[in-house]
Amino acid sequence: MSRNDSLPNVPIDPSPEFSTIGHQALRKGVMGRIWRRTRTAAEIAFPAIPSLVFHYVDFLADQFAAMGRPFSTAELNELSRLLLLKANEGFDKSPNANVLVRYQTSNDGSLHVHYQVAASTWSSESEYEKWTVNRTGPLFGKSADARLITALTALTTPLTCLDIGAGNGRNALEMARRGHRVWAVEIAPALSEQLESSAKEENLPVHVVTQNLLNADLPIDSESVHIAHVAQVTSHFRTVEDLKKLFTELARVLAPGGKALVSVFLTEPGEHPDRAAQQAAQYLWSTFYTPQELQSALADLPLTLRSNENALAYEREHLPNESWPPTDWFEEWAQGVDVFGTTEKPVISLRWIELERAAHCSS
Ligand SMILES: C[S@@+](CC[C@H](N)C(=O)[O-])C[C@H]1O[C@@H](n2cnc3c(N)ncnc32)[C@H](O)[C@@H]1O
Repeated sequence: MSRNDSLPNVPIDPSPEFSTIGHQALRKGVMGRIWRRTRTAAEIAFPAIPSLVFHYVDFLADQFAAMGRPFSTAELNELSRLLLLKANEGFDKSPNANVLVRYQTSNDGSLHVHYQVAASTWSSESEYEKWTVNRTGPLFGKSADARLITALTALTTPLTCLDIGAGNGRNALEMARRGHRVWAVEIAPALSEQLESSAKEENLPVHVVTQNLLNADLPIDSESVHIAHVAQVTSHFRTVEDLKKLFTELARVLAPGGKALVSVFLTEPGEHPDRAAQQAAQYLWSTFYTPQELQSALADLPLTLRSNENALAYEREHLPNESWPPTDWFEEWAQGVDVFGTTEKPVISLRWIELERAAHCSS
């Protein structure tokens, strides 16, 4: 629709006699005065990603200029300083943080824009609690992971299994249904409660621990676990140290020869996503590591990397048709689309890595 179509009854061109100084110049002058009387107020929530702050400043500069209130270089510098301060404050506290910019135009006839900048954070636990209330259908998958089923099928006697970041239990429950004793560790109370009540309903031996894996050692005996499963959890981590903490705990609780299956986003060969992408991935629950970072998290631990497979391809090939896709977001998420917006040339991909605990540990 052209501008004339959208405003059929409004005369938009003044008569040529309107002014001797020229239509364009006059219109600019009129609008300059009109912007002073135009009022607006807004709140914008930007993801607290420090490396992207200059994009946010550009966006705000365009908004203010469009309202006839362009910021000077000094004003833009001050806006940048405040945005960066609050983005860092939010990001340091949590990957789940926003920078809130509230602005309103002055009503004193000047072209001033008043603004405030603040950081606000929330927890993934509270977000998952909302999932339990607002989402219908399976939250993380219609059945247990195919990769876990493969590992469980190889076991011939009842053993002890562990599910870390168990969610509402699709994998822990499957382990228990197959006769194994199960530890399930989950940080979000809303999910661990669902898991506990499902286990009770089916009278299954699942011991649920509601705790942050990264804050304290698990209340599980050393060398007591035969299969550990950690699915879709490291995407919530922030640093290589977090990954190291997980592996250190796995190395402690796994029995000699015990196996851990861990899903983790790794960068594709030749891809080197920058700092902005790394920070954005944390906000978007898709934290990734380079193969070198994976190796450094494993260094000096009695764990051997036995396999490293594309998780999407594995699950697509091995899950029964009625369980595919696990969720409506899994396929895109596993290819890094949540961060990079494309499947054309994946930058990261979700991998299943299998770790085996050494039979004898010198430490
Ligand atoms: C995407 S869900 C996957 C749930 C489950 N593993 C599955 O595949 O069905 C990720 C889970 O990891 C849990 N989680 C994330 N970080 C954790 C931590 N540091 N300690 C314990 N649980 C954590 C989350 O609360 C959430 O339930």
